[in-house]
Order: sequence, then structure tokens, then C-alpha cells
Amino acid sequence: MLTPKEIETSIIQLRIEINLHNYHYYVLDAPQVPDAEYDRLMKRLQVLELQVPELITLDSPTQRVGTKPLAGFDEITHAVAMLSLDNAFSDDEMFAFDARVTKGLEIEEVTYCAEPKLDGLAVSLRYEDGRLVHAATRGDGRVGEDITQNVRTISSVPLRLMGDDFPPVLEVRGEVYMPRAGFDALNKRQRDHDEKPFANPRNAAAGSLRQLDPEITATRPLALYCYGVGEVEKQLLPASHYGILARLKEWGLRISPETEEVRGVTGCLEYYRKIDDKRDALPYEIDGVVFKVNSIRQQQALGFVSRAPRWAIAHKFPAQEEMTRLIAIDIQVGRTGALTPVARLEPVFVGGVTVTNATLHNEDEVRRKDVRGGDMVVVRRAGDVIPEVVSVVLAQRPDGAGAFVMPTDCPVCGSEVRRVEGEAVSRCSGGLYCSAQRKEAIKHFASRRAMDIEGLGDKIVEQLVEIGWLNSVADLYDRSALPHNKLAGMDRMGDKSADNLIAAIDKSKQTTLARFLFSLGIREVGQATAQSLANHFGKLSAIMDADEEALLAVADVGPVVVANLRAFFHESHNREVIESLQRLGVQWPDVVAKRDLPQPLAGQTFVLTGSMESMTRDEAKAKLQALGAKVTGSISKKTSYLVVGADPGSKRDKAEKFGVPILDEAALEALLLGHSVAN
Ligand code: IVH
Repeated sequence: MLTPKEIETSIIQLRIEINLHNYHYYVLDAPQVPDAEYDRLMKRLQVLELQVPELITLDSPTQRVGTKPLAGFDEITHAVAMLSLDNAFSDDEMFAFDARVTKGLEIEEVTYCAEPKLDGLAVSLRYEDGRLVHAATRGDGRVGEDITQNVRTISSVPLRLMGDDFPPVLEVRGEVYMPRAGFDALNKRQRDHDEKPFANPRNAAAGSLRQLDPEITATRPLALYCYGVGEVEKQLLPASHYGILARLKEWGLRISPETEEVRGVTGCLEYYRKIDDKRDALPYEIDGVVFKVNSIRQQQALGFVSRAPRWAIAHKFPAQEEMTRLIAIDIQVGRTGALTPVARLEPVFVGGVTVTNATLHNEDEVRRKDVRGGDMVVVRRAGDVIPEVVSVVLAQRPDGAGAFVMPTDCPVCGSEVRRVEGEAVSRCSGGLYCSAQRKEAIKHFASRRAMDIEGLGDKIVEQLVEIGWLNSVADLYDRSALPHNKLAGMDRMGDKSADNLIAAIDKSKQTTLARFLFSLGIREVGQATAQSLANHFGKLSAIMDADEEALLAVADVGPVVVANLRAFFHESHNREVIESLQRLGVQWPDVVAKRDLPQPLAGQTFVLTGSMESMTRDEAKAKLQALGAKVTGSISKKTSYLVVGADPGSKRDKAEKFGVPILDEAALEALLLGHSVAN
């Protein structure tokens, strides 16, 4: 238990800290800590203030919503205050919310309107007689900034409403955000122009909307979803929130397509999980979902507490950004010798998992972010993406933390580290002499999409290379180099697993030219390029002996790939390994060279989505490519066909939008059969 004096001191300190974060977040658009940390500080302050209510003053951060508008924009006083939402972080908090609502209304079950909680910037748009007269930020909830000129540049904001039955005064509330794709493109542009990239789409949206020059805003890919109304003659609107949104949509305002009516808290929790599942596939970032009592009459009956309505709640997803201590910067050596700085972290729970390592990408990134050993850092993990260090909390840097320097010698093999002019990566020059590169090369060789050796896991490869029993991929097939008893003696192996592993190795001997080429791990020769080369030349010897001109004739092969191929096959060591592999029984059927084959699908572009029954997506892709088609990952107006399997997802909608013809699995099979060739 804290003494009253200690509580008072903590309250004062927390207010100072929160105010400082507010300033960075709202005024400078450069938050210093992740939202989750801010929420925790705020919660702690609220709890302490509740213990000693007489200490609550009007200037406490708990007593206001935002901060004052930036100098440079005019002020706009909202006709109806822009409120905030209470948060729920668990199912229990949702049950508690629903219990308060049902109790307040004295009914059993409530219908809610469910919407995604977009991570952008709240705005209020005022339409008079159907014309957009002004737009404002939320500001402190009562007074915001006049950003009319900037909002007018957002194409999803109608300047005039559609139809003729809209109320004479209509204030619309919504969220301006930046779609992920636009955010990535903007950051690429920023980097290309040597300007600082934005930390996340929310900051990018805020920074873009608060530009004093609307011409800059106009170049930023902003969008709007509407989620409510401010001043309006209520009797001119439907009696439910969902109904109101539907009307807004009719008047030309953008509403999230994920908006739904759900019944009771069970419906809320189902919706929460459904949206959480598709969160990564959505084209924009969300940080939770929002539930609002659907009936306007019921909303009015429930009313408000201080800054938030009693009839709505934001059910937040676990934070995707958290703070932790960076213990040290390690260097990892990859398959191609690339040295990647990796942050070793004090374990932190972020994005639903415990993270202990995060990538720092390369030397320039470490410099740009100025990350140092001992720093407090912000770590981000979104979806299946590799966790990364976003930024440093400079205020918490320990004394004496030294700037990062890339080693000049490989930390694994001691070879010289080189960095090619104009490239971001530093590489160990040791090639396969470097055990780190050897390990990675062998792991790649054995991987599913390459030689597909089941049971040859990373740990076994690492052990075998470390002991010195596995020096090249050819050793895998050489029972005198790697006999049964050696394999059986490895950690977590045994007679039976060794039998299975040897059987899997033997099975992998029968392969295809494309797989074999891919498994060699030649730089920039991915699966698709390997397949093109195999199709084009038909035989390995033809590829090894091809000159520059002949290689450039292959679809999707450019000068960089040509240089890498030539360098690889020029190396006598590589030729020897290939010979040994073939001598030890690795083989594949020669295919009919594409040069000699008809190309009925040449010039056509296919996109594959969803899961298929009769073949894997990779197989379908290979078959289409063999017929001359190009297979890409994303739909555009130029796509010739979208092939859909089960559970196609958002690509189907996109194809329909662009008018791209859709083939189901049966139609694809018929197409392939019609053109069937040996592959
Ligand atoms: S409703 C009275 N609905 O979240 C209710 N807000 O923490 C006011 N937000 O300032 C807000 N998506 O910036 C509402 N579907 C949604 C939302 C949403 C995002 C933001 C908005 C608001 C903040 C509240």
C-alpha cells in the first residue's frame, strides 16, 4: 500500500510523463512510446486518482481527450463534442460492458453494431445542404483544427452528397487512414528522396493530414471510413446506428464493408475473433473492433460518462508494438553471406507471442534508427511478419552506449567482410568456407520447395556441419561420408529416425530440373526463375554452358541473374559438387526445351488464390508456366485470369472489380488438359 504522500507524488509524475507523451503523439506526430505503454500509464493514473478523488484537477490528462490544436490551422468548435471510447482488453471486460448495458436498459439481450476500429485520425465533416463546408480534426474533443483544404484532397470524401433526402445540416464522423499499400509506397518514396520514413500508417496519415500545404496532402494516399454522426436533426435519421450508416452510404459516404449487426455479447466475441483472423489480410491497419448499442433510443437512455458514451466500447487486439530492453546487437550470417544485425531482446509479449530477437535489417538501418546495445527500444510484430525494432526511446538510453559498427571480419569464419558500393548488404567473402553459409546453403538445399528432404531439420544440419561431418550437399548422399551410425548418434536422433532420414534422402534423388536448380541456392534464382530456366533449356548442361545472350532470352531473366548464374557455374567447386550429386544418384528427367515447344499461353497473366484439391498451387503454377503463361501474386487490370480454389479471400472481389475473368479448379484442369505437354 502506498502512503497518501506517495500517491500524490506518483500522480504528479504520471501527469508530467503523460503530458509529454501527448505532446509527442498529438502535436509532433512522433510518439515516443507504443500505445500500449501510454494506455498503461493512463490506466495507472486513473486508478491512483480514484483512490484520492480530491486530487483530480481539470488539467489532469484523464480529464481531457486530446491537446490543443497546432499553430497554423484555424480552430473549429465542434457543434457536438467528439468523444472517445472506453477500451476492453479481454473477454471478461466485454462481459462486464455488456452486463452494464443490459442492466442499464433492463433487458436480456442487446443488438450491437460491430465495426473495425481503424487506426488513423478522427475527423468531423460538416455538410450543409449536401455540400462539404468544413472538416476538422478532433483536437481536444471540443475544439479541433480546420483541415478542410486537406480533407478536400482525399478522393473518398464526397464534396457533395448524393441524392436529395439528406438532412440540411449533417456532421459526419469518421477516420482518415492510410491503406497499407499506399503507406509502403509512400515510405519507399520517402527513402528514395532521402527523407525520413514514417513509423506506421497512423503516423503517416496524421502527418499527411496536418500538412500546412494541401498540395502535399494531395500526393498522400489517404482514405476515409465513416462511423457516426455529430450535429444533425436526429428525427431525419433512421432509429438504429446500423441504419444510419446505411443511409450515409447512400449519400455517398464510405462505410466499412465489415460493419455488421450482432446479437449480445456472444455475437460481439464471435465478431472480434472473425476480424482478428482476417486482420492481416485487410488492406488497412486496425487495432481492435468497436461495438455500439444499435438502437438510438437505447443509446440515449444510456447516455455518457465524462468523455465516453456508455453505449459503446472498443475491444482492442493485443498490442503489436511494445517496449523492451535491447541486450545486444548480434550478427547473423545468411546463406549468401549477408550479415544481418539482429537485436537480442529481453523477452517481451507483443503481437500475441513472446519475442526475444528482432531484425535490424542492415547497417544503414541500424545507423538510421541509431540503435545501440542497452537501449530501450520499440518492437513491432504484426501478423506473421518477422519482429522488427521500430525505434529507440532516446530518453532512456544508458550512459556510455556506443554506436553500432559493422564488423570488418566475419564473426563466424573470420573472412573479410565486403560491402559493394551502392548496396545495403555487407557480405562475408568466405563462401562455402564459412560454416554459417554452409549451414544455410544445406538447409536451403533440403527445404520443402527445393530437394524436399523430410526430417533433415535445421538442428541436425547445424550439428553435422559443426562436427565437420557435412561439408557439402553431396555428403548427404554419400554413405561413406555420412553413414547410418553417425546419423543415428546425433542429438534427438536414433536408429529409427536415421533409417527414415536416409530413406528421405534416397527419395529426394528423383527430382526435377527446376527443383535441382533452385536448390543450388544461386543468388536471385528463386523458384520461378529456376522453373523458367528449366522450361527454356530442358537440360542442365545447356544452362551451364549457355552464354549471356542465350540466358537473356529466358523470360524474366535479366543481367543480374545472368551474372550470378555465370559466376556460379564458373566456380570449379560448384561444378564438382554438381557432378558428385549426379554420380551419387541425383537425377531428373530431361524436359522438352521450351524453345522447341508451342507456347499457347504466352502473353497471358494468371493469378492463383485459395486451395485446390487436385494439385498444389505450386504445381498449377509450374504447369501454367510450362505453357508460356506468367503467374503473378497480385491482381491488376492486366491480369488475364484469376484461378480460384476453396476460400479465395479478397482477390476474388478485386478480380470482380477489375472485370478479370475467374476460372474455378475444373476450368483450370480443362485448360491445362487442352494444352497438355510433358512437363
Ligand atoms: S466511434 C462516440 N467508431 O477511435 C464514439 N471510433 O478511441 C466515438 N475509431 O476517436 C468514436 N474506428 O478516432 C468509433 N468504428 C469506429 C472507430 C473509431 C476508429 C477511433 C476514433 C476515435 C477513437 C476512440
